[in-house]
Amino acid sequence: MKIAVVGTGYVGLVTGTCLADSGNTVICLDINAEKIARLSRGEVPIYEPGLEEIVHRNTASGRLLFTTDVSTAIAGAEVVFLAVGTPPLTDGSADLRALWSVVDSIAIHLSTTAVVVTKSTVPVGTCAGIEKRLKDRLGRDCRVASNPEFLKEGAAIEDFQKPDRVVVGVRCDDVAGVLRNLYLPFLRTENPFLIMSPESAEMTKYVANALLATKISFINEVANLCEHLEANIDDVRRGIGHDRRIGFAFLFPGAGYGGSCFPKDVQALAAMARKVGVLPRIMTAVHETNSAQKNVLGEKVLRHFRGIMTGKSIAVWGLAFKPRTDDVRDAPSLVLIDQLLAGGASVRVHDPEAMENVRAMYGDRLVYALTPLEAISGADCLVIVTEWGDYRRPDFDEMVRLLKSPVIFDGRNLYSDQEMHARGFQYYPIGKPPIHAVENRTMEKS
Ligand SMILES: NC(=O)c1ccc[n+]([C@@H]2O[C@H](COP(=O)([O-])OP(=O)(O)OC[C@H]3O[C@@H](n4cnc5c(N)ncnc54)[C@H](O)[C@@H]3O)[C@@H](O)[C@H]2O)c1
Repeated sequence: MKIAVVGTGYVGLVTGTCLADSGNTVICLDINAEKIARLSRGEVPIYEPGLEEIVHRNTASGRLLFTTDVSTAIAGAEVVFLAVGTPPLTDGSADLRALWSVVDSIAIHLSTTAVVVTKSTVPVGTCAGIEKRLKDRLGRDCRVASNPEFLKEGAAIEDFQKPDRVVVGVRCDDVAGVLRNLYLPFLRTENPFLIMSPESAEMTKYVANALLATKISFINEVANLCEHLEANIDDVRRGIGHDRRIGFAFLFPGAGYGGSCFPKDVQALAAMARKVGVLPRIMTAVHETNSAQKNVLGEKVLRHFRGIMTGKSIAVWGLAFKPRTDDVRDAPSLVLIDQLLAGGASVRVHDPEAMENVRAMYGDRLVYALTPLEAISGADCLVIVTEWGDYRRPDFDEMVRLLKSPVIFDGRNLYSDQEMHARGFQYYPIGKPPIHAVENRTMEKS
């Protein structure tokens, strides 16, 4: 099949690459000429495990192509995926300007049988809006479908190739058939191909993200409560997780959710509700709880130093909004860094993949360490924001030697309380009583 993918970001590039890998000819279109030039040279502009190898394999075979030219991409395409960004406007609703501009630019190049498919996360009713807009432009009905994407950055290839389910929102069986054929290579383990209306498909995507975000905000609120009541969130988590109605997934406390999806999708769902006169009480609380949670690590650091940050050197491990990605959009690390800089501290950061994205935002206001240990060298404390594998089993002896004082604020509860105690760290986890260092080992080194 000949496929066009419009928008070559995390979703578009993964979609295009995986569809080329399953035997289709795919042209990826983007307005970002630099991105397309890099991809055409064989450079992959984002970090996503396994992606580079599949991009290279398929560009070499001629099945995966990149362009900035709309007619080259769209003419002759049987399926056109729309995967441009839908960031939040100031009122929380989704900004669809990129999407509408794409719909307008592709219209005249569409073949009469082409199926236009929204992969971008878009408000309920957008698919119907695209059908209407194309009809107004072309004077004929066009085939439009919704096919929300559920991939997770950091595991995007695996998620695309082995989806839990594929959801398609269509108005007629033959469009469902086209999409089913396209997805067949990825459904060999009988994972469901769910057909519904475009409106239900659009809603499904928001509800999935909003429910996951709700679980995170819920457990974060409970964790904060545990800290005040001397309960231990690890024990509480175990206590509830074995209940099969509850389970363990997405109930890890932390520094708040970030990324390009949860924050904007929770707000967009709330905006949709307000627009039709429904009060989005839960979504509003989820968003507010998360915004407050992003301040928790910084507030603990500030309290530890009795509000005096000037002259302090703070190490931060983990900048990406989650491990195995370089994406820092809405990352909790950025809120922490802003708090520390505003307080007058100097900040030494490390991340295995996201350093360049953070450097583009902060320039020389931060110290960028090449290794985790280099980041903590001479620092007054360490704050862990993202649970990269690199940080799980560090050389604790070396850390005690390098830190000016052995103090760790752990936003992901990576270490055992017993080990922290035994090694003489002052340890501030999330949702658990802090470990106070043994007296003679906490004395500040000169
Ligand atoms: N990132 C994720 O994990 C994820 C997961 C599921 C769904 N989504 C949704 O998918 C959509 C895309 O997300 P993303 O993270 O890939 O975004 P992104 O910002 O990484 O990529 C969007 C791309 O679209 C391009 N673009 C913008 N306007 C264009 C135009 N007029 N013509 C051609 N290209 C244009 C941009 O240059 C950019 O390369 C969003 O709606 C998002 O909510 C994202």
